[in-house]
Amino acid sequence: MTEYTDYSLLPHNTFRLDVKAARFMEYSSEEELTAFLASGGLTSPYLHIGGGSNLLFLSDYPGLVLHSSVKGVETVAETDERVELRVGSGVVWDDFVAYTVEKGFYGAENLSLIPGEVGASAVQNIGAYGVEVKDLVVSVDAVEAATGKKRRFTREECRYAYRDSIFKKELKGRYFVTYVTYRLSKLPVFHLDYGNVRAELEKDGMEPTLANVRRVIAAIRSNKLPDPKVTGNAGSFFMNPVVSQEQFDRLQTEYSEMPSYRLDGNRVKIPAGWLIERCGWKGKALGPAAVHDRQALVLVNRGGATGRDVLRLADEVARSVKERFGIEISPEVNLIG
Ligand code: EPU
Repeated sequence: MTEYTDYSLLPHNTFRLDVKAARFMEYSSEEELTAFLASGGLTSPYLHIGGGSNLLFLSDYPGLVLHSSVKGVETVAETDERVELRVGSGVVWDDFVAYTVEKGFYGAENLSLIPGEVGASAVQNIGAYGVEVKDLVVSVDAVEAATGKKRRFTREECRYAYRDSIFKKELKGRYFVTYVTYRLSKLPVFHLDYGNVRAELEKDGMEPTLANVRRVIAAIRSNKLPDPKVTGNAGSFFMNPVVSQEQFDRLQTEYSEMPSYRLDGNRVKIPAGWLIERCGWKGKALGPAAVHDRQALVLVNRGGATGRDVLRLADEVARSVKERFGIEISPEVNLIG
């Protein structure tokens, strides 16, 4: 366990906000974490972070910030058709995707280049280009904050939904993820039907291989999404809202070109990026925070912004969407403080 006090979180949040944690602790093994928790070392308030790619700090953090640097990828089951890999929560997500692509394991390639770490992938149910991490998760190993006791959650117990899981709801803050076991296919299975993935592959005459799909996804992402190493941001700031079929039908009479995805149960998901762009926000700044000029769902730190500057912009954006379309959009990023 490595402990720091008055620790700068600048390298731990992709919005690049210059905030401090009163205490910061990093553990490199499950044993270290369980021993720390069992000995009553946890003090309140506390916050467990991953790569900090989905957080907006509104102020300095007055308590203890924990971070996993549990590493390693272990094969725990294998047949001719599939493989199960148990991966440390502190492994960088995209390093894991690169590993699966190199080994010829199918399933994670559409999730290439998503910032963050393995632990958070299973909490947040990250998703992109028609794949969500829940499609790959077999089980999640976690440690109970209050006792240090280990528990394995099956995929069903994780109660996955769009960008959501039990770790964000009933068990929020109560368990720390140490390992995630993913199942990948050794036989080719591709998901090329989202957006322009297939078209981009075909345009360049590329065969659908793992490496090529990863290449195309990387190109699509870097064309639309700002690189957090260059411009502070946390990917999509808002979730895509879901409305009833009736509300959607009403909206469509006025906005026939509104994109949508039909869900089960008479519900329709609408891309928040489209709504925000339609309200004229794309590329617009409010002080040091701005709406990204190539994907309106992303808010960026133009340099020197505070969390409150970003939140002020987010509130204005949400207010316009509500006024114009009657739709509430809510943040996908976690607001801290
Ligand atoms: N659109 C606009 N204007 C914009 C942005 C989008 O009109 O400024 C339209 C697009 O033309 C398209 C539709 O909205 O018709 C969907 O756009 P896109 O494919 O870019 O996806 P998204 O719904 O905006 C979601 C995820 C992203 C993920 C992409 C691709 C959420 C909150 N976001 O965005 O995830 O990369 O799909 O699968 O679900 C993230 O979670 O941080 C993230 C980046």
